Amino acid sequence: MLLNGIKETQEIIQSARCEGKTIGLVPTMGALHEGHISLVRRAREECDFIVVSIFVNPTQFGPSEDFNKYPRPLVDDAEKCCYAGVDIIFAPPAYEMYPDGFDCWVEVKGPLTETLEGASRPGHYKGVTTVCCKLFNIAQPDFAYFGLKDYQQLKVIQKMVDDLNMPLRIVPVETVREPDGLAMSSRNAYLSPTQRESAIILSKALIQAQEAFDRGESDPNTVKDIAVNFIKAEPLASIDYVAIVDAETLQPINRIDAPAVVLLAVRVGSTRLIDNILLSKIT
Ligand code: PAJ
Repeated sequence: MLLNGIKETQEIIQSARCEGKTIGLVPTMGALHEGHISLVRRAREECDFIVVSIFVNPTQFGPSEDFNKYPRPLVDDAEKCCYAGVDIIFAPPAYEMYPDGFDCWVEVKGPLTETLEGASRPGHYKGVTTVCCKLFNIAQPDFAYFGLKDYQQLKVIQKMVDDLNMPLRIVPVETVREPDGLAMSSRNAYLSPTQRESAIILSKALIQAQEAFDRGESDPNTVKDIAVNFIKAEPLASIDYVAIVDAETLQPINRIDAPAVVLLAVRVGSTRLIDNILLSKIT
């Protein structure tokens, strides 16, 4: 069932809850691919009633970003949701989420949102946390599903939920990749065939980093240089950042001993792609 209004959505979810059903929410911006569907599948395993939100959230895009050209194939998306066993698709128009006079923001301050994506995209996480807070209030889910593909986003959302005592569990879900390793993303659709080929440099660089770490390299700068040099060899790619940080705090580390994460943002042509890999000792 495709719904646009907040009130009707709340009423239907409320009646499912009254029947004793657990509610799973999968927030998305649409242009659904297998990555999104894997979140839905996980939700289906754990919850009785599945809500997918599809909303290209204007407040998380910077003025020179791709809000206008972001793909919006709603009919296709609805079909995929239907096929995956979604109970409700909540696809509100912008004025429903941000009516005239809207003036309330939820923001995680501090180091978690000041680095990496937060530094490259000022205001991005403020938009993400505000819209997710609204979606959590509307759907009141028991569980909400987020991809590890957007690792920093997941940590920021988890922090908001912890700090504000929001009564739901955030469930992280593994990154789904194309057969050649490229992380699935709605933005992959922007790539020309040649750029698409070049884009595998992101996951290949992460594998290089993982392999150096597996060989016993524990200096983050050395591991980072390996990834950076690998990407620099691809003429169509330009690095926004490559960082190796603590997997919990996302702060810089001197040695890779506790779990760490390699995060990168790379432009291929004008398309900005992100990916990451967790490094942890094989025990
Ligand atoms: P969107 O980019 O549509 O992603 C929706 C969810 O799908 C996010 O949790 C994201 O991490 C997950 N996802 C994307 N690609 C994935 C992949 N290849 N494998 C597994 N999961 C993947 O992230 C957003 O939308 C927005 O910021 C949102 C949270 C909806 C707030 O507007």
